[in-house]
Amino acid sequence: MGLGRKRQVGSLMRDYKITLSEYRNSVKVPWRKLAGKPFGCSRWLPGGRALPLGWHVATTSPDSKARASLMVDILVSEAVRGPAIDALAREWNLVEDVQAAEDPERLAAYLPTIRAWIVRNRTQVTADALAKAPCLQVVGRAGVGLDNIDCQAAERAGVVVAFTPRENSLSVAELAIGLMIAWLRHLPKADRHVREGGWDRPRFLGGELAGRRLGIVGLGRIGCLVAERAAVFGMDVVGYDAYVSADDPRLDEYGIQWVPWNELLETSDIISCHVPLTPETRHLIDADALGRMKPTALLVNTARGEIVDEAALLAVLKEGRIAGAALDVREREPPEVGALEQLDNVLLTPHIGAFTHEAQERVVTAVAEDVARVLRGEPARQVVGRARPER
Ligand code: MLT
Repeated sequence: MGLGRKRQVGSLMRDYKITLSEYRNSVKVPWRKLAGKPFGCSRWLPGGRALPLGWHVATTSPDSKARASLMVDILVSEAVRGPAIDALAREWNLVEDVQAAEDPERLAAYLPTIRAWIVRNRTQVTADALAKAPCLQVVGRAGVGLDNIDCQAAERAGVVVAFTPRENSLSVAELAIGLMIAWLRHLPKADRHVREGGWDRPRFLGGELAGRRLGIVGLGRIGCLVAERAAVFGMDVVGYDAYVSADDPRLDEYGIQWVPWNELLETSDIISCHVPLTPETRHLIDADALGRMKPTALLVNTARGEIVDEAALLAVLKEGRIAGAALDVREREPPEVGALEQLDNVLLTPHIGAFTHEAQERVVTAVAEDVARVLRGEPARQVVGRARPER
């Protein structure tokens, strides 16, 4: 090896933290074969990496430090899968690394090269992360909630935030109704009972939706879909939303009677939360709100865990000051198994509102298509803020 070549290899090893043996065992792909790819990247092979020096070096040795040298176009940092993602992977260098959502160091290794970043609700897309991703053009949020994305920082940085505002609404609305029925009819306990050989019918005396008053907190798309379905079950539907006035035409359309906040709390048999998480809605259902609820009331939350003060909820449930709660979302996810899990009057599911085949197909397709549009220089369809990147 000539001196110049030795120097080049030495600097490669230093910059990309690879050993000489890793370098020697690597497969070198001539640059010209990679023409037309952004950053001149080849498809990244699992466990491999690429170096931007006229060579692509794919090695079979998985070295976490060397992940820093990956040249990834699209990072998928949560489980967002399906044919639409496979189609992206055929066109761009796409990596799914779900551990990156929880591990800042691991995540930081991808940021310098990514042009698109697909997330659900666990990855925190912060101003700091955006600043470390100079090539990033689009964040694709596979879902509706934007509380894990600093949308203002993205706007300032010229990064498009594409999301799916309606693709999973129906599934969430159906789960909310499902939780109401499951709680009222003791379905999880009845199922366990039969599996254990029991057939004690009177033990599972339940209640009907019909005739009960449903108080919907948040009259956006999901809240309205819940109202529409509840009305079919014969419920008396009332609703409150700080941003919806009593004369909003949607109220009539969905059969919702607007009531003031305290009236909703004090008169509803079931309260179902459908507000996004914002500084205003954090702990909206606090000790005071819980204290106003009927002792026979059920609280349903399929929105965001932080909307309910879980410590205050635990206290009222333990003291029997409300009848129960059905929670799909928690203040901390995944939650630690604690006192809430021990209570008999609580029904818990692991944030599965959006997890139906139908919703996931819609969500993944829509977000992947918008990401592809941005990477091709076309405007995204469903965006927060701008539709085209400014970087
Ligand atoms: C959403 O915000 O779309 C749902 O909570 C589902 C999710 O984040 O995965």
